[in-house]
Amino acid sequence: MSSTDFMPLDGWDHVELWVGNAKQAAYFYEHAFGFTRTAYAGPETGVRDRASYVVEQGAIRLVLTSGLRSDSEVTQFACRHGDGARDIALQVPSADGAYRTAVQRGARGIAEPHWEEDEFGRVELASIATYGDVVHTFVDRKDYAGPYLPGYRSTVENGQVDSGVGLKALDHVVGNVELGRMNTWVEFYERVFGMTNIVHFGDDQIQTEYSALMSKVMADGSGKIKFPINEPAEGKRKSQIEEYLEFNHGPGVQHIAMQSEDIVAAVTQLKERGVLFLDTPDSYYEEVEGRVGEISEDYTDLKRLKILADRDEDGYLLQIFTKTAQDRPTVFFEVIERHGATTFGEGNFKALFESIEREQALRGNL
Ligand code: FE2
Repeated sequence: MSSTDFMPLDGWDHVELWVGNAKQAAYFYEHAFGFTRTAYAGPETGVRDRASYVVEQGAIRLVLTSGLRSDSEVTQFACRHGDGARDIALQVPSADGAYRTAVQRGARGIAEPHWEEDEFGRVELASIATYGDVVHTFVDRKDYAGPYLPGYRSTVENGQVDSGVGLKALDHVVGNVELGRMNTWVEFYERVFGMTNIVHFGDDQIQTEYSALMSKVMADGSGKIKFPINEPAEGKRKSQIEEYLEFNHGPGVQHIAMQSEDIVAAVTQLKERGVLFLDTPDSYYEEVEGRVGEISEDYTDLKRLKILADRDEDGYLLQIFTKTAQDRPTVFFEVIERHGATTFGEGNFKALFESIEREQALRGNL
């Protein structure tokens, strides 16, 4: 699409979470989600103010970072927001080019373009701000052959990254923004990234008795990078988006969706490893086959594992949502498997909302 020519994106690079205790968070993502720890930077490698653990599975790269002192920006982020996503980093042909374009189009610069290098080559990095305290780092790593970034030490023992539970790639990363601000951020992604709004749904389409949301999905020209943006909509009681905004102290990343190729096997293993997923009422499975029709999987497996199914004009998808990954009711994960479908499971939103609200009610926040 010509509208994206000014900001070409090559794909996801990583998502960095700023957390209270990265050592323990890394253990959780390794042992519960099946990631392999691949790289580390911290005091032992000459970094004075933080410790970062890189974990990978398929093409997914997460970085868990915590600050070592109370005046660290990482510590202060984790204090204000709880554990959460700080950086949705994107691979670009030129970090300098992407940064200059973004800033010229109205983005706020966070880190000027700069090269980092070590014996494995060099990487160009630059960062801009998006909603809340979240940033996008532009990464040009085509001249780099080391683990993650210069200065990181490889922690892969046999040179192999384990296939884990079979999670393959990032699918989409969702932001929650304040009431009335969704269109501001939709316009930001249009203006700064040349993205287009591929899906939207309003509060007439997604609501339960008590809460509702409005959502628009922004995507780049290739369709690889998808950023849904949610804002709360009026309901009789506090919406899940409002609860998020209260506990996150403002906008931030709501969920990170990861693709699988055998979701029944992946979710079976994740459950065995202790990952907690949202529950779905059995009544959902009475209507799902009639709504979605024939699929390759067995509906009894979906019902047993509480995997959701939906269909659009291009195909079907299977998806399941974890419970929030920390004590604050903020960030959670999604496993999604696409069989042609290009949408996000809108038909499941009502079922999803009802199950999220059961959790919210248990916390006394509904
Ligand atoms: Fe999602």
